[in-house]
Amino acid sequence: MPRAANVSPMKAVVYTRYGSPDELKLSEVPTPEPKDDEVLVRVHATSLNRSDWEGLIGKPWYARLGGVRKPRRKVLGSDIAGRVEKTGSNVTDWQPGDEVFADALSVMGGFAELICVPANILARKPVSMSFEEAACLPQAGAIAWQGIGEKVRAGQRVLINGAGGGTGMYAIQLAKLLGAEVTGVDNAEKLEFMRSVGADHVIDYEAEDFTRKRYDVILDLVAYRNVFAYKRALNPHGRYQFVGGSAGTLLQTLLLGPLTGKKIRMLVVRQGAKHLAPFIELCKAGKIRTVIDRRFSLSEVPQALRYLGEGHAKGKIVISPLG
Ligand SMILES: NC(=O)c1ccc[n+]([C@@H]2O[C@H](COP(=O)([O-])OP(=O)(O)OC[C@H]3O[C@@H](n4cnc5c(N)ncnc54)[C@H](OP(=O)(O)O)[C@@H]3O)[C@@H](O)[C@H]2O)c1
Repeated sequence: MPRAANVSPMKAVVYTRYGSPDELKLSEVPTPEPKDDEVLVRVHATSLNRSDWEGLIGKPWYARLGGVRKPRRKVLGSDIAGRVEKTGSNVTDWQPGDEVFADALSVMGGFAELICVPANILARKPVSMSFEEAACLPQAGAIAWQGIGEKVRAGQRVLINGAGGGTGMYAIQLAKLLGAEVTGVDNAEKLEFMRSVGADHVIDYEAEDFTRKRYDVILDLVAYRNVFAYKRALNPHGRYQFVGGSAGTLLQTLLLGPLTGKKIRMLVVRQGAKHLAPFIELCKAGKIRTVIDRRFSLSEVPQALRYLGEGHAKGKIVISPLG
């Protein structure tokens, strides 16, 4: 059934060109109206991911898949938690007032007071969990769960490259929980943080080449190396998983990875609540904790993204539009 247009404005952080955080402007825009299969959510918290930074600067090139010359989606922000405000006509699972969270990577728009998302990507926020914590889990938790939680066995040597950020914080804890010996790699500022969430060994990527030692599982969140360096760093039955990094390394992983005789693959992360459920249970049970480094208001999204992009974020960064 057609719906009347909703003309009431809302605040959102908008950008129209790829570039630095200076491109981001807090603006008044029309509140989106949910389509038949969508839900309008009032955002209580949005967590930052590196994918937001990549979407802002337009690099690597795969960050421009939605718009080569200029961004197709004008509002970044994908990991949201909030309350259902309004539902589309086909939506039966959700009611206004329900507390929900989601990775809205397919639509973006979380740096705003309200966001429209497909109903089927929403998950119910556990009652015991704050909106902030729930907003931290979807993307980083899915990568960590699928890259470590589903792959690691007790006694294995695990290396996580780029382990001082949001995903790494969860990945280190999961690997330790599963009984692995864990090495975290990141910049010097984050070494102590990686130890604090459980890493047995830490490496400053500017001081040491992690591919000189061998591991059973490597989860690479920021892959910039040659595929043969990764081959060298794997034990005979080891597994290397590319998650994010340079376009060159991505192509090498896809084209040459299968030819190396070792398991060198891209981890294509399955999105959606059901792929994250065991991880959420571990968080609810207090076995995995979320470390929020800093909190920012909606108007401070440029500062927040700069903080992440310049490599200072230890764990997660959260935006609170209501704060
Ligand atoms: N495969 C998929 O399906 C999928 C799905 C969603 C997201 N992703 C991708 O996953 C990636 C990881 O995101 P995230 O949110 O976990 O990142 P993050 O929280 O920003 O963590 C990445 C960490 O890596 C560090 N780093 C940068 N360059 C490094 C290097 N050369 N060696 C070691 N560490 C380095 C960063 O710090 P510094 O900047 O200070 O060095 C940062 O601490 C993103 O590229 C995103 O696009 C992939």
